[in-house]
Amino acid sequence: MTIQNSVWLGTANLPRYDVLDTDQETDVLVVGGGLIGLTTAIYLQQEGLGVVLLEGGRIGTRTSGNTTGKVTSQHGAIYAGLLDRHGRDKAQQYATANQEAVDGVEELVRRLGIECELSRGPSFVYSTGDTDLAREAEVARELGLPAHPADPAEMGLPITAAAAVRFDDQLLLHPARYLAGLATAFSAAGGRIFEQSRVTDLDGKGDGVEARTAAGRRVVARHAVVATLLPFGTIGGYFARSRPNQSHGIAVQLPVEAPTAMTISADAPTRSTRPWPGGGPSGLIVVGANHETGGQEDTNTSYQSLVDWVDEVWGTKVQPEYRWSAEDYSTPDQLPYVGKAPGSPALIATGMHKWGLSNGTVAAGLLRDTVLGRDNPWSEVFDAGRIGDARSVAKLVQDNLKVGKEFAAGHLRRLLGPGLDHVEVGEGGLFDVDGKTVGAYTDLEGRLHTVVPVCTHLGCPLRWNQGDSTWDCNCHGSRFAPNGAVLDGPATKPLAKPED
Ligand SMILES: Cc1cc2nc3c(=O)[nH]c(=O)nc-3n(C[C@H](O)[C@H](O)[C@H](O)COP(=O)(O)OP(=O)(O)OC[C@H]3O[C@@H](n4cnc5c(N)ncnc54)[C@H](O)[C@@H]3O)c2cc1C
Ligand code: FES
Repeated sequence: MTIQNSVWLGTANLPRYDVLDTDQETDVLVVGGGLIGLTTAIYLQQEGLGVVLLEGGRIGTRTSGNTTGKVTSQHGAIYAGLLDRHGRDKAQQYATANQEAVDGVEELVRRLGIECELSRGPSFVYSTGDTDLAREAEVARELGLPAHPADPAEMGLPITAAAAVRFDDQLLLHPARYLAGLATAFSAAGGRIFEQSRVTDLDGKGDGVEARTAAGRRVVARHAVVATLLPFGTIGGYFARSRPNQSHGIAVQLPVEAPTAMTISADAPTRSTRPWPGGGPSGLIVVGANHETGGQEDTNTSYQSLVDWVDEVWGTKVQPEYRWSAEDYSTPDQLPYVGKAPGSPALIATGMHKWGLSNGTVAAGLLRDTVLGRDNPWSEVFDAGRIGDARSVAKLVQDNLKVGKEFAAGHLRRLLGPGLDHVEVGEGGLFDVDGKTVGAYTDLEGRLHTVVPVCTHLGCPLRWNQGDSTWDCNCHGSRFAPNGAVLDGPATKPLAKPED
């Protein structure tokens, strides 16, 4: 039986924290308890600042607890493209910042004594198609990265690849244990964390900020860092400047020893692998099957495509022990946004392109320096206020036209059934109830959950995600539980009930 949970969240004890039930004053408010929020909170605390961290759900349980756990400067085959598009200076900044982040994470793990299965090893990107990896290796080396052209056979992956690039001495860890360690160290040193305390509003107040939670509590601070994957609500307009993309993961036992190196394909479809220490020598994690959040009719096919790949590569029939999915955001010019959000008192970090363990560690240092008024060498490449080049603007226009179409077309989608007595156990979807569209799901205990399937962010129609039992919004990536609770923003309010 496959467990529907990330292999990390299923094997870590994340600490629990109280709900915020008294108003607070502090130096810095951090909103969001994923990798970026927790790392920023620790960095600021180490500078002697008072920090309050508000988490809408439970710390570490959204994207950061669902990653592949690779901390590497090898982000697929990106460096030749970065150089061509952004020039040498920015490509250099991106490369150096991320390579330093690999060491920065290791330093934090050792200093805080976090037990998170940390190990060093090679990471390979390989091509089974047309990607020019000879140039990628050359550019990456010129940028000072530990990159080498490699024989694909070195990967230990039994596939036929045309070429590969190896980055030496990259890092692997158990992300949920890493996050648990960060949170424990932060609170042990006097940091205040509150869970189930979703922030709904954030405004300037005097020289600082005031935030309000869904339960009406207030936090007044000199600075606010919004590290909520995508800034919540409409902060900085980032919802219209980035796209949400969901990936799927499986943890399996192979019939033979698993490759010990990290690997990732340069060509679509993405297949990213790493060893799964908890699964023993034959344990393997495979992540991929990417698509826009809310953009796939049946996400079970995404999971199946990963299983099929393993079966084909190893000539076997595996049943995953764990399967999970998560989303991350991409920007039109492929670089994250980190820093001061336009038109808002908030500092933000978003658009990590599925490389937020390293990019997000860079972001945390940049956010700390912005709060302290210090220069930071990466502020230009991650500039949160940029619009980007002409190609980026064209991409933005295209993305937003698509969102407009999604908005208009949503309720014309085929309804699944004429009434709620048609909702089978474990199934969900859109139903017609007395001429109204109702979202319904019957859980495994036979309880029926109904919602108004309209996103509370900006009103787009939602799609039922059968593979994960969530309501997903294709417009800007909000995700909701079957009972309507917010799982991922930018939405801050739960779904309405049909009877409201
Ligand atoms: C499947 C997958 C695999 C990946 N693998 C890797 C990898 O191997 N290496 C790598 O470098 N990167 C990887 N990434 C990318 C990386 O995981 C992300 O970029 C990173 O985790 C983002 O961190 P975050 O803190 O911004 O987001 P999150 O971890 O999502 O944290 C945001 C937090 O904010 C909270 N929140 C949201 N709204 C509010 C609100 N209004 N009030 C209070 N709290 C709120 C959420 O509940 C959440 O806990 C992967 C991504 C995916 C999807
Ligand atoms: S996330 Fe913006 S409308 Fe749904």
